[in-house]
Amino acid sequence: MSNRNLAEYLAELIGTGGPISISRYMAEALGHPAFGYYMTRDPIGAAGDFITAPEVSQLFGEMIGLWMADAWQTMGAPEDAIIVEMGPGRGTLMADALRAAATVPEIDAGTAVHLIETSPVLRPKQAEALSAQNVTWHDRLDTIPDNTAIFIANEFIDALPIRQFQRCLPGWRERMVDWDHISKTFRIVLGDTDSNDLIPDSVRNAPIDSIVEICDPARGIVAEISQHISRFGGIALLIDYGYAASRCGETLQAVRDHKTADIFESPGNADLCAHVDFAPLQAEAESNGAAAHGPTTQGDFLNALGIGLRASQLIQGATAEEESEINAGLARLTEADQMGSLFKVLVISKAGAPAPPGFEVST
Ligand SMILES: C[S@@+](CC[C@H](N)C(=O)[O-])C[C@H]1O[C@@H](n2cnc3c(N)ncnc32)[C@H](O)[C@@H]1O
Repeated sequence: MSNRNLAEYLAELIGTGGPISISRYMAEALGHPAFGYYMTRDPIGAAGDFITAPEVSQLFGEMIGLWMADAWQTMGAPEDAIIVEMGPGRGTLMADALRAAATVPEIDAGTAVHLIETSPVLRPKQAEALSAQNVTWHDRLDTIPDNTAIFIANEFIDALPIRQFQRCLPGWRERMVDWDHISKTFRIVLGDTDSNDLIPDSVRNAPIDSIVEICDPARGIVAEISQHISRFGGIALLIDYGYAASRCGETLQAVRDHKTADIFESPGNADLCAHVDFAPLQAEAESNGAAAHGPTTQGDFLNALGIGLRASQLIQGATAEEESEINAGLARLTEADQMGSLFKVLVISKAGAPAPPGFEVST
């Protein structure tokens, strides 16, 4: 490819075909085979651009492991069940989870773990973290086997491309990305197609200039998971930052070096992510024959699973420094003013299955 960087490639693309959707811009910025953000680096951790819950504390993955063990047993401990993680990052969550889930005899090194991961940089890190496990990688969900499956995803859906729509006098119009040849910068322009039918009913009458975000790939993935669960059995745990009821507001942001950045400043060199609207995902699960539980907050979910008790166990025998680290991790994961409230947890189960752990008390 002759383009020297992603901005040049996108400018050329727009020059030839006209403005592109924010969804296309985001998909290229994150997933372009040569220049895409996730294709070229490990973005997680102090030396990267952001930190995620499993990297904050082992408590997070361990709680998910206990949840998986409970779910496995509730489903009757099917011998051929598989674990599927979408967007597994460095593999830390799954390594911590499998260690904690090993209390169930059926979950061991031979348990088939299927990872949905497009990053050639992160796959080797996952292989290292899960070196003792039976792991298979996939680019997409549609190649996993037809077995009962426990699906896990943390901070995966927020990386899926969104479209943005803006309410104008004549109706809703899509916000598109254009290239300004004079200033040599990207800018937002409005498309001219009437998009009213794409806007959720609950926000369609929002005031002029309101912005709504829609994530079609998230709905597609939830539909796939729900159909899999309805047909072959299983359960899914989806954790991400977002909101429970569809609403207006622009949440798309770029994150670089642990700070927010301009989404157009350096495509391919900053993470792009958007808050997840859980309402259409819940509806998608139900319209595909599965049951949706939640969303509840991450704080409530982890507290209900007993994260406080696990922290106390870890503190026994810990040094003073380790103790303060464990407590800081616990607070970061569960406190409302940290990750406890913004992050939400949605579980998709087979219709009629009992309420999953963490959801026995409805919120
Ligand atoms: C924000 S990171 C979260 C990592 C991990 N779950 C954690 O909590 O540390 C997003 C993950 O999803 C992967 N990813 C992003 N877009 C993807 C896509 N379209 N298909 C598969 N994996 C994707 C990234 O490579 C990365 O592993």
